[in-house]
Amino acid sequence: MSLRLGDTVPNFTAATTEGEINFYDFLGDGWGILFSHPADYTPVCTTELGKTALLQEEFAKRNVKVLAVSVDPLDKHLGWRNDINETQNCNVSFPIIADDDRKVADLYDMIHPNASATATVRSLFIIGPDKKLKLSLTYPASTGRNFNEVLRVVDSLQLTSNHSVSTPADWQQGEDVIVSPAIATADAEVKFGQKLREVKPYLRYVSQPGSN
Ligand code: BEZ
Repeated sequence: MSLRLGDTVPNFTAATTEGEINFYDFLGDGWGILFSHPADYTPVCTTELGKTALLQEEFAKRNVKVLAVSVDPLDKHLGWRNDINETQNCNVSFPIIADDDRKVADLYDMIHPNASATATVRSLFIIGPDKKLKLSLTYPASTGRNFNEVLRVVDSLQLTSNHSVSTPADWQQGEDVIVSPAIATADAEVKFGQKLREVKPYLRYVSQPGSN
């Protein structure tokens, strides 16, 4: 069955380009991103893993560990990783799971038979420190994901987790955020140490907590 938001994600052990990994141990008490790609030595996947590697510092700053997966074997991953580093001008240091027995792909429902009987689709899961699923997305093989958007979602999720605020459409780092309708205005003004900008009683903004 597919995972739903709020579900506890399943643990697993797997062979990876960085050695054997126990998923929960790998995540520790931080955030995690597990994402699948259809196959090694394919063009879109090459750019996706390269982009992720180039953003690795940004993920680390947010205490997010990244883990890629496809059903290709380890020796293929290792050869392909050299190509990614060479062509995308990066250094892939996050693990890539060799899931040739499809253990992880099946556990996370990453094979969608009407798209491909054998290859994983582009699934991506953001997992919180509580091991609960915070976001999932599914893209087809032909569309590379936007990893800056993934970072933007992590920022939003972490703001919600740390400050109980929400983020509006197209929100970007540093812009005003939304106060939950469940908090009374007087309480919110004490909590955030600022006056709310009230557009409607249910639509109230504050400056992003923690930004200058
Ligand atoms: C790609 O990464 O370009 C790709 C992979 C599998 C199917 C189609 C495209």
